[in-house]
Amino acid sequence: MKPIRKAVFPVAGLGTRFLPATKAMPKEMLPIVDKPLIQYAVEEAISAGITDLIFITGRNKRAIEDHFDRVPELEADLEAKNKHELLEIVRNIIPPNVNCIYTRQSAPLGLGHAVLCAAPIVGNEPFAVLLADDLIDANVSVTRQLIDTAHQQNGSVLAIQEVAPENTQKYGIISGERIGAKTTRLAGIVEKPSPEKAPSTLAVVGRYVLEPEIFKHLRQITAGVGGELQLTDGIASLLQEKAVFGLEYDGMRYDCGSKAGFFHATIELGRKYHGLEH
Ligand code: UTP
Repeated sequence: MKPIRKAVFPVAGLGTRFLPATKAMPKEMLPIVDKPLIQYAVEEAISAGITDLIFITGRNKRAIEDHFDRVPELEADLEAKNKHELLEIVRNIIPPNVNCIYTRQSAPLGLGHAVLCAAPIVGNEPFAVLLADDLIDANVSVTRQLIDTAHQQNGSVLAIQEVAPENTQKYGIISGERIGAKTTRLAGIVEKPSPEKAPSTLAVVGRYVLEPEIFKHLRQITAGVGGELQLTDGIASLLQEKAVFGLEYDGMRYDCGSKAGFFHATIELGRKYHGLEH
């Protein structure tokens, strides 16, 4: 498999679960302590060796582009005031060898459609997908863990975790054959099944390494659960052609697309990295 240098960040969703906070501000810019969710995902990708960051944006998402851009007047001001630590923080968000590329999803038609918008930029290479609302605190970047597995298995890899049976309808759920301590070869995948219909309790979370054949399958799918073009349905179709694997990654995931998960992440990361006890 070719080296994986490109990562897609779908950030065009409406973030309705966080209204009114997300009325004029992107959900991905909500901060956990002092850093927006999208920056955690970008740092994870960069630490996995990704050099091209492809953001799928939409209306109301300008703040994300501004966040990753240089601000010369702010840098000059911090420099003049000898605030060197802060200067480094704002200057080094994106290292010099990393490119930010932005393209727009005309309407939020679903995650599958958002990923398909990246096709002309990704081309014929395997690539990573990171959903910023899944914040994963890990010693080794989960994107790195997926890339390593993709190279070992020579196929697409999805991050998976066990969930409680009553929660299967919040996730894509896989079935398959376990081929290693943490690796499953997929036989099937279904979006948001009820507990009675779920083939297992292994759920897909927001990290993927996909082979470029996925685009052909995403072009063929029709609207699925919620009337949206689902990435899960594209992967189910890809499975007919190519091997896909699930990896039970090492790391602690916070579902920051939900208020409870966002609150939990704020408390835990505040304690762990900022010494905020009370
Ligand atoms: P979610 O369904 O969790 O995000 O999509 P949402 O729709 O913005 O949030 P709620 O449910 O209304 O609160 C997962 C990810 O996929 C992106 C979202 O931005 C989020 O990062 N997404 C979703 C798109 O980029 N385009 C879409 O059409 C749908």
